[in-house]
Amino acid sequence: MRIIVVGGGGTIGRRLVPALRSRGHDVVVAARTSGDVHVDLTSPATVEALYREVGPVDGVVSVAAHGALDEFGTLTSDALRENMRAKFFGQVDLVLTGQHHCADGASFTLTSGIFADRPWPHVTGGGVISGALHSFTRSAAVELPRGMRINVVSPTLVGDSVDAFGEHFPGLRPVPMGELVDHYLRCVEGTGTGQVIRAYR
Ligand SMILES: NC(=O)c1ccc[n+]([C@@H]2O[C@H](COP(=O)([O-])OP(=O)(O)OC[C@H]3O[C@@H](n4cnc5c(N)ncnc54)[C@H](OP(=O)(O)O)[C@@H]3O)[C@@H](O)[C@H]2O)c1
Repeated sequence: MRIIVVGGGGTIGRRLVPALRSRGHDVVVAARTSGDVHVDLTSPATVEALYREVGPVDGVVSVAAHGALDEFGTLTSDALRENMRAKFFGQVDLVLTGQHHCADGASFTLTSGIFADRPWPHVTGGGVISGALHSFTRSAAVELPRGMRINVVSPTLVGDSVDAFGEHFPGLRPVPMGELVDHYLRCVEGTGTGQVIRAYR
């Protein structure tokens, strides 16, 4: 299959892309500065341009753009909206625009995160973004045309990020990278749609 991986050079992406390639998929990596083609999830025009440049694909995987940490006492709705631009609205754009460009039966695999289900200090934005992505995924699965599918993988802290972020989230048991990659592979190669894959116990 021909697959776009947005954020394919990042922590999750650099494990996922080789796994997809080793299974024979033709992978195009997209990001703002790295990768084969450029896209900025905060810019709908670049999402449209990405699809025009790459042409019809059988799968789109997004492993890009974090929600920012926040301080609830000083949080504003404007700051929350800004926080949602890349990870929520950007991934939504990949689907809303992609439905008009992707091949019949194409799959979309988005990425959310554990804070949709597990409240934690300083991640109000992250929780809202991920919860909204879960609802979007379920709704989109009902209406996507031409047999297209959509799923969202919701990781906890991932194994390769423990050194970078572990101190912010003490007590979160990381998901091993191999287990996480398998979730994405099943979304791309399987038949499921509308699934929220919780990569945590
Ligand atoms: N790491 C974790 O422990 C963890 C846990 C739960 C959920 N997640 C979620 O998983 C996803 C991937 O995380 P990660 O840790 O692999 O991220 P990462 O290491 O920071 O990599 C992010 C990738 O996305 C690209 N990117 C960032 N902003 C972008 C934008 N606006 N438009 C297009 N590309 C953009 C970056 O490349 P450029 O800089 O070249 O654009 C980079 O390739 C994120 O949504 C994150 O919130 C991660």
